[in-house]
Amino acid sequence: MADLRSDTVTRPTAGMREAMAAAEVGDDVYAEDPTVNALEAEVAALFGHEAALFAPTGTMANQLALQLVVPPGDELLCDADAHVVTYEVGAAAAYGAISTRTWPPLGAGLDPGVVEAMIRPDGYFAVPTRAIAVEQTHNRGGGGVIPLATLRELRRVADTAGLALHCDGARIWHAHVADGVPLHEYGALFDTLSVCLSKGLGAPVGSLVVGSAERIERARFLRKRMGGGMRQVGVLAAAGRYALAHHLDRLVDDHARAARLAEALAPCGVLAGPVRTNIVPLDLTGHRLDARALATAARAEGVLLSVLGPRTARLVTHLDVDDAAIDHAAKILPDLLAP
Ligand SMILES: Cc1ncc(COP(=O)(O)O)c(C=O)c1O
Repeated sequence: MADLRSDTVTRPTAGMREAMAAAEVGDDVYAEDPTVNALEAEVAALFGHEAALFAPTGTMANQLALQLVVPPGDELLCDADAHVVTYEVGAAAAYGAISTRTWPPLGAGLDPGVVEAMIRPDGYFAVPTRAIAVEQTHNRGGGGVIPLATLRELRRVADTAGLALHCDGARIWHAHVADGVPLHEYGALFDTLSVCLSKGLGAPVGSLVVGSAERIERARFLRKRMGGGMRQVGVLAAAGRYALAHHLDRLVDDHARAARLAEALAPCGVLAGPVRTNIVPLDLTGHRLDARALATAARAEGVLLSVLGPRTARLVTHLDVDDAAIDHAAKILPDLLAP
């Protein structure tokens, strides 16, 4: 099977398993796991921030960050298609009592002017806006990369209004590789970031919250409260360190493979947008097949894809799909999608 549903389906490589087996460990709730401490220091330095905290999932990392920057009852602004309000099962409301208000789904076409117009001032009669969240790359936005100039303008908007800026950087690695923007340059633009090791980088588990030392100290407390205080978790941090050392630069291969798939599918008229990174978004509006029918037909031919909506689907390239798998998908999908 060519499993193109998600970049989360990867399995640890032999080298990664060796690194995990050899990891020095300690009790991370006491901050005594040397491998976790090394990973946190490494990731903080990559983004030019003071500190980072290991979390079991991207969802927890995002939610910890949001609780750091938005007090209960106050408001977060984000894209209507953002992961934090689409796929985190109401966590911002359930755990942080955070109000969320969304701008229409713009994906990587984020417009700082639209965001600025939504900001509410402090006052006893309205919900005070406290933070803005963006997603880099944008998952439901087809893996799009928000341009650096847009993020800089958004930073100006946030500073003018005294707001915090959070980045859901589950796939910020892909943006870094696609646009050549140094990670520390992204880091400088945000008050908090969450980054995932378990997506394109291929680790089995693990995300980090990145920010100031003071914020990350608070995040450590909130992580324990949410049940995310882990013990000898250096075995997982070792997978993350291995992933950073060995799987970051190779994301160009995933991008090239996604571009090849896009090229093969272009004549079918089903691409939902340009393909910049490792996600190929499909829009089957008006097509003879809906998303479910396409997924069923593709599965029968040995290709798995994700259904996102009745007429939307996606293909995602990653560490566990090679050129042969892409060749196969690039052959059978255009046949299935022929009018
Ligand atoms: C953009 C984005 N943010 C956050 C997450 C959450 O990660 P996790 O599944 O580890 O909770 C995902 C997961 O796919 C994601 O795509």
